[in-house]
Order: sequence, then C-alpha cells, then structure tokens
Amino acid sequence: MSKVTIDTSTSRATPSPVPGKRTTVPSIRTRKVNGKTEQPIVMLTAYTMRMAQLLDPHCDMLLVGDSLGQVIYGLPSTIPVTMEMMCAHGGAVVRGSWHALVGVDMPFGSYEASPEQAFQSASRILKETGCAAVKLEGGEAMAETIGFLTLRGIPVIGHVGLTPQAVNMLGGYGVRGREEIEAEKIVADARAVAEAGAFVMVVEGVMEGLATRIASEVAVPVIGIGASAECDGQVLVTDDMLGLFERTPRFVKRYADLASEIGAAAQKYAEDVRQRTFPSAGETYRPK
Ligand code: KIV
Repeated sequence: MSKVTIDTSTSRATPSPVPGKRTTVPSIRTRKVNGKTEQPIVMLTAYTMRMAQLLDPHCDMLLVGDSLGQVIYGLPSTIPVTMEMMCAHGGAVVRGSWHALVGVDMPFGSYEASPEQAFQSASRILKETGCAAVKLEGGEAMAETIGFLTLRGIPVIGHVGLTPQAVNMLGGYGVRGREEIEAEKIVADARAVAEAGAFVMVVEGVMEGLATRIASEVAVPVIGIGASAECDGQVLVTDDMLGLFERTPRFVKRYADLASEIGAAAQKYAEDVRQRTFPSAGETYRPK
C-alpha cells in the first residue's frame, strides 16, 4: 500500500500520495476465483474528504452511498437525493483517497427510465467526481441497463435484496427473503445483475442463508450488509459503525462511540467558553 503525507501546512484538503496505483475494477472482480474469495473485500461509506482520508488506508472500496441523504442531509429517505449531492460528495471522497476504488450511488430517478438516461447520469458522475464506478439498485429489471453501461465503459456495482430507494414499494426497511417466493426472486435478481456485467454487487438486508446462497451461486464478489459473514466482503455505513447515531439497525456492529465523545467535547468547550478559560495564553496571539 502506498504511503501518504497529508500536507496540513498548506491545506487540510490535499493528501500528497507517494505515486501508487488505486485499486482497480478488474482487481476487485478477480478477487473471486471459482466461486471463492480468499481475501474478503472491505468497503465502507464515505461522504467527505476527511473521512475518506481516514478510511482509505484500511478499505478496498469506498462507497459514496445515497445514504448521505439521511446521514448528512437529515432527509427522511434516499428518495430526495440529487445528482448535485452525489457529484459534490463523490468528488470530495475521490480527492481524499488514493488507494481505495471509489464507487458513487446513482440517485433515485437518475437511471430507471432507460439505459440512455442511466448513461447520461453515470457518465456525468464519472466525469465530475473522478470515481471508478457507479452503483444502482435493482435486479432483473435493471439488467439491460447494467449491460448498456458496462458495454460503454462504465463499471457498475449492483445492489439487490433490500433496496432502500424502493422503500415505498417495500413498505419499510425490514429484512427481505423470509418467504421462499421472495427469496427465489432475490436469487434471480442477483444472477441477472452478475450476468449483465456488474463487477461486484451489494446484497442488503436478507436472511443469512439466502445471502450465503447468493454468494456461492453468483460468479462476481457479493458484498454483504445485514447479510452473512460468508459473503465475499462487507460494507457498513461508517457513521453507524462509529456510533454516531443512537439508533442503528440490528446488523450494525459499533466499533466506536463517537456520539458520546463529540457530546463530551462540546460540553467541555461550552464550559470553557462560559468560564472564560478558553482561549488561554497558549491559544492567543500576544506581542513577542
Ligand atoms: O447508500 C448506501 O450507503 C448503501 C450502502 C448501505 C450499501 O447503499
């Protein structure tokens, strides 16, 4: 992995990587050989430059998920997320990373109408952000679009199972594939996405056995979230795993409790300001 110096004297924003090579689409695709992935793929979401800098050395892939609608913008779902949001945050994450492959979500309404509409949106995302791939939700219904994009040079990350952009059809964010008929449909979706040309896919919010079956039956790497440890990789929403929210889904493991730490720091700062103990001599400019 390349070594990176962050030049904080001139800019908080500019990492200066020792020339190295970013993780590529073929190198992710070929992690899975004959149905097996020796080294699981590590993916986390990132929406900002600084978070990308911190996560990048540890991740194979960074996903600029449309979950930013809820996490960053306080929206009720991912439905209102715009192309402008995805392009702005996608560019920031690309600028803050040097090792991981960056994928950017296509927002709801930017790709479903036709393969041509999807190409317009995906090519804009690639041009404006510098990311390597786009992610879109949907199975069999999106196969033609995935084929259209990949044949025209746009790598696609699939997303099946619980697809949050379909929340109004699904009626909520509950686990999918409890009933056999739905489980079979999700397997068919995963197969269709892989056969259409997606180089990797996310499987979200499905019964564990179903996720294991999909990972074993589909040729491309399957990245789980709320799925199974048997998947070819895992992804989490970073803000969830850092403990920035009080409520998280059952499948989230919290690796930190940043909400408490941030609250405690803000409380201490407020006390210092109110008692005039901040700024102190060391934090003020005085004549030499
Ligand atoms: O939008 C997102 O963050 C995602 C991940 C949860 C896979 O799609």
